[in-house]
Amino acid sequence: MIILKTSRELAALRKAGKISQAALKLAGEAVEPGISTWEIDRLVRRYIESAKATPSFLGYEGYPASACISVNDVVIHGIPQKSQILKKGDIVSIDVGACYQGFHGDNAWTFPCGEISPEARALLDAAEKSLFLGIEQARPGNRIGDIGHAVQEYVEARSYSVVREFTGHGVGADMHEDPSVPNFGVPGRGVRLTPGMVIAIEPMINMGRREIEIKPDGWTVVTRDGSLSAHFEHTIAITKEGPVILTLPE
Ligand code: MF3
Ligand code: CO
Repeated sequence: MIILKTSRELAALRKAGKISQAALKLAGEAVEPGISTWEIDRLVRRYIESAKATPSFLGYEGYPASACISVNDVVIHGIPQKSQILKKGDIVSIDVGACYQGFHGDNAWTFPCGEISPEARALLDAAEKSLFLGIEQARPGNRIGDIGHAVQEYVEARSYSVVREFTGHGVGADMHEDPSVPNFGVPGRGVRLTPGMVIAIEPMINMGRREIEIKPDGWTVVTRDGSLSAHFEHTIAITKEGPVILTLPE
């Protein structure tokens, strides 16, 4: 069931989005050779708590941290570790959510650690661009398939691949609500978008093949072929005027 949001709820969602974005920015600024992913997670948790919010991920279905930090061939849901030290050339996907006054924000970005290869840079640029092409489609009258199609078309034209097993989602009092928002699709198909809907759009783009595997920890999602993967996410409100990104800075 898709829950449309009132303007009061949208105000809380906007605040949660801003906190989520500030936490993500802080995490991204901490990405440098020598830092552990655990230290970045601690920064995220402290920031969110200082903003009188709670980390959306911590304890969610038993998830043990406040951020997901997914390095290189890890697609999503990488668990921060004291023993995992970032090194120059890594690409580091950080996913952060904050809950404020009962409503969630959810956003992710893939950051370069120091200098990265031109191939890795091109993957990041294409994945980021695909997110914004998806967002452009998030307007009343369009359908969910228009979003996924825009992402897929752009990415596959550059010979990258779209992960299919995980998707974007509605966002509200629950971090994951209906509808599911795949990063592939057919134009004009799927749920019709209406004002009051709030969704997270989050392409997961692989340099190689699209197949993924889940590690024995039950969380860590990696590319099956070991290729690099990038992840960009914003939480969006659909309004009469078009898409409004809730996870932008103040
Ligand atoms: N933020 C992720 C998403 O975009 C979910 C994280 S899963 C969790 O859907 F368990 F870490 F919370
Ligand atoms: Co999400």
